[in-house]
Amino acid sequence: MKIDVSHVPQRLLQDPQGLLQDKVALITGAAAGIGEAIAYLFAEQGAHVFVLDLNESRAAAVANTIGANGGSGFSFHTDTRDPETVRPAVQDALNRYGHIDALVNNAGIYSRKSFLEMTEEDWDSVHETNLICTSSAETGLHRRGRGVWSRSEISKEPDVNERHENRGQ
Ligand SMILES: NC(=O)c1ccc[n+]([C@@H]2O[C@H](COP(=O)([O-])OP(=O)(O)OC[C@H]3O[C@@H](n4cnc5c(N)ncnc54)[C@H](O)[C@@H]3O)[C@@H](O)[C@H]2O)c1
Repeated sequence: MKIDVSHVPQRLLQDPQGLLQDKVALITGAAAGIGEAIAYLFAEQGAHVFVLDLNESRAAAVANTIGANGGSGFSFHTDTRDPETVRPAVQDALNRYGHIDALVNNAGIYSRKSFLEMTEEDWDSVHETNLICTSSAETGLHRRGRGVWSRSEISKEPDVNERHENRGQ
């Protein structure tokens, strides 16, 4: 498929096979906005894209657009706060390809309150949305022994962000 990648540095676009040829990528919040743009860019670069989103119909539309343009896209109705809704996407990716190369942990929220004003519910809500999906997808990433991670908005485990940065390529 073709999308405008004129803003991407040329050195990243030199491989005619696509930078992400046959990589398996799960992208949360990929039915709209930044996640949707990432999904198209990954597909254009050859990745098999798993579109995970609360918005089922939009997620399906994004996966269909990828498929209609020669890529491979699969949609899943997922709430990143609920591991049970993430696992089917992880399992499907493993069944189809045997591994997962990347999780783009894009769906995320942050509290507009200062840290001292946040309630326990605010704190839990941020972490449930931003991190639970990461732990569910880790099973697939670990099978490969490596992975590309994006940072979520915030992490309650100090070593999680460090791990994401160290693995990102
Ligand atoms: N847009 C910005 O300027 C900006 C700046 C900094 C950070 N961010 C972060 O980038 C991410 C994407 O932002 P955006 O502007 O593209 O958002 P958006 O609102 O355009 O799209 C978010 C997508 O995530 C989905 N989503 C929301 N909660 C979900 C959940 N619990 N499970 C699964 N899917 C869920 C929505 O259905 C939607 O399709 C967010 O984490 C946001 O906090 C955005």
